[in-house]
Amino acid sequence: MQDVTGLPFMKVIASRGAPDFFFTEFFRVHSNSRLNEEILRSITENTSGRPVVAQLIGENLIDLTRTVKDLSKYPIFGIDLNLGCPAPRVYKKNVGGGLLRNPDKIDSILRRLREEFGGSLSVKMRYGFEDDRNFDRILSILKSRKVDMVSLHARTVLGGYRTKPEYGYVKKASSFLECPVFLNGNVQTHEEAFELVNSTGASGAMIGRAAIRNPWIFRQIREQTTNAKVFNPKLKDVFEYVSELYEMLKNSNANESNTVARIKKFLNFVGLSIDQEGKFLFYMRRAKNRKELFFVFEEFLLEKGKGECFFSNRPFEGLLARPSCES
Ligand SMILES: Cc1cc2nc3c(=O)[nH]c(=O)nc-3n(C[C@H](O)[C@H](O)[C@H](O)COP(=O)(O)O)c2cc1C
Repeated sequence: MQDVTGLPFMKVIASRGAPDFFFTEFFRVHSNSRLNEEILRSITENTSGRPVVAQLIGENLIDLTRTVKDLSKYPIFGIDLNLGCPAPRVYKKNVGGGLLRNPDKIDSILRRLREEFGGSLSVKMRYGFEDDRNFDRILSILKSRKVDMVSLHARTVLGGYRTKPEYGYVKKASSFLECPVFLNGNVQTHEEAFELVNSTGASGAMIGRAAIRNPWIFRQIREQTTNAKVFNPKLKDVFEYVSELYEMLKNSNANESNTVARIKKFLNFVGLSIDQEGKFLFYMRRAKNRKELFFVFEEFLLEKGKGECFFSNRPFEGLLARPSCES
């Protein structure tokens, strides 16, 4: 996820139970694009032991080919094409979710990427732009181009983040395609991931925002799947998580105010599960420096025995995090 799930987050989450795969933030591909150095670090400095797939957003075949050639020099497991970003400034250029309006273009991109790249080729898509009119055709293209994995966000592009995900489309894709299909969209807990994977026949779940809020979710899913006791984090574990994240972000940020601004993007999600009234969110957003921020952490996560309280598995009703990038 743009500006959030880069190398510092990968490092922090890896020690709490890494996912089976990581997907990078998207590399923008256009006539003047070069590989973004910061995103590249999540490939070159990945010590999680898990494979990393490089995601691309773009549509021009020459630029995509150049980018794939450049990326092939690095230890990537695969290339993933973004067919889901709903930001109007993106889809108006007919990239990201905008490409869902043009299945023929998707076909020519996948053909080109296949010719150029021998590793895993995957797509991250929504089930349509305004509705599902192109869904069947796109599924047939994915099958004929033999894509290796599909992550399906069960909403339309115009549905943004507001609409209710329609997981029936994941079921359809899972039964039609021969490759693994990962369901995506609003999975909040390990129980939900487990139930939805079972009911749709998906091969797994791609989890976005809930993993920022609860970095133990992949471990919890694994534990539930193997009938092991599921880890139940306490607020003191959350204190350790955000403290470690601060340190990791500090290493890649020049000054304190940048680090404080950066970590707030994560805390907007973490704060959804800390207190019902949203006071953590209120005070954290007003912290101007490290000292003030850590004062808020200590107040809400450690003071007066709070460290022994359990962290809520779900976000509290009524608290909403607005995505800073609308991918
Ligand atoms: C801040 C933010 C950044 C995102 N960046 C990307 C991105 O770079 N590539 C992508 O495929 N999806 C991106 N997404 C979308 C997520 O991958 C995911 O499809 C979406 O958030 C729904 O899943 P979730 O409910 O598990 O978060 C982003 C989402 C958010 C909130």
